[in-house]
Amino acid sequence: MAEEKTMPRWIPLLGGLLGSTTCGLLLYAFSVFIKPLREQFGWSATEVGIAYAIVVLVFGSTTFVAGKLNDKFGPRPVVVVGGAILGIGFFLVSTITSTMQLYIYYGLIAGFGGGLVYLPPIATAPKWWPDRKALATGMAVIGLGLGSFIMGPLATSLINNPAIGNGSALPVFKYVGIAMFFMAIAAGLCLKNPPAGFKPAGWNPPAPAAGAPKVSQDFTFGEATKTGAFWKLYFCYFAGSFAGLMVIGVMAAHGINVMTKELADSMGVAASALKGTPEAKAIAMKAALALSFFNASNAIVRILIGAVADKTGTKICFLVTFILQVAAMLFLFPAAKVFILFCIVAIIIGWNYGAMFTLFPATCAQYFGATHQGSNYGLLFTSWGLAGFISNLLAGRMFDIFGTYMISFTVGAVFVAAGVLVFFTLKPPVHKSA
Ligand code: 2OP
Repeated sequence: MAEEKTMPRWIPLLGGLLGSTTCGLLLYAFSVFIKPLREQFGWSATEVGIAYAIVVLVFGSTTFVAGKLNDKFGPRPVVVVGGAILGIGFFLVSTITSTMQLYIYYGLIAGFGGGLVYLPPIATAPKWWPDRKALATGMAVIGLGLGSFIMGPLATSLINNPAIGNGSALPVFKYVGIAMFFMAIAAGLCLKNPPAGFKPAGWNPPAPAAGAPKVSQDFTFGEATKTGAFWKLYFCYFAGSFAGLMVIGVMAAHGINVMTKELADSMGVAASALKGTPEAKAIAMKAALALSFFNASNAIVRILIGAVADKTGTKICFLVTFILQVAAMLFLFPAAKVFILFCIVAIIIGWNYGAMFTLFPATCAQYFGATHQGSNYGLLFTSWGLAGFISNLLAGRMFDIFGTYMISFTVGAVFVAAGVLVFFTLKPPVHKSA
């Protein structure tokens, strides 16, 4: 049985790469669409922003369903069906004329399809790679960073092309929706569970340390959710996602605000006097560049931290990245005054944020076993959707009240600091049958 395998084990990783790239196209470049949608339809920033809050909530909640379906039917049907729904929903956005249609096609339909596509590769990769669980998990999620890195410039050039968008974002949804449909279905076809008890050739599970409890079987969903470790992980995931998603949502706007104010002060004019000037356009470019650095770092870390965590264990990686994130969140506000510092802080925050999507699923698989990873991680990941929904609405609201993102960033830092304290108390759960 040990040597039995039904396909080369890099194929499910390719499935993860393709599937997660479609999710990156869906999620992390949304800010590119805000201005063109507002200009075309005259909607407010809040009206357009609600679509993003919905997609995050729906995507994050669907992973729970996706995990359960994955454990019951295997990854392939879930991703194929999810990919079709994702592509169709994204495509339909090209036909919208009302915000309600935007919320339904983008937020509900594409968000639901995206959640179905995202989770199964994460549950499948560690089963094929028990020897490199964290690295394989990183491969299954790297596309989130890659997709957003590609989508920003791709969407901008399609929007600006006089023969395609001519200022409208809608054709982007048409063409990218078709591409997502085929990419996500291809991803599903690459996925399948290995035979039960699969071990890569020449690899044997490491012997447990002397005195360590013997884990005779993986945790079921019911067992995992009764452990303190599961809910500690849930809180920490919520905390890290709260801070990271808040930064993704407002980082460019924050950079533009602070850099414009600095320049206006140095010129002795009001910030509003710079509107539409070449200086204002240069500042917008700088903010977009900082966001690209964030996305690149968010992608690269997913592989690198996986390689490190396979050697050191995930807990030390969690502690280092979360502590670094507290400092970076507190420094983000003043850093925007100096472009190079702003980029450095963006890289650090993107790094710590992206690391979570390798470290949490890998820890979930290590603590509770790979058998029920779909259901267990599916529930754990709902913390991300919840955090993104709350943090995006809160950041906008706090900006309206205080006229600055400083309070939002400080609240984010406090959440991450609480996560650090919880990590110090985190221990692998002991299975009752041990
Ligand atoms: C990730 O970036 C979707 O937030 C999730 O992997």
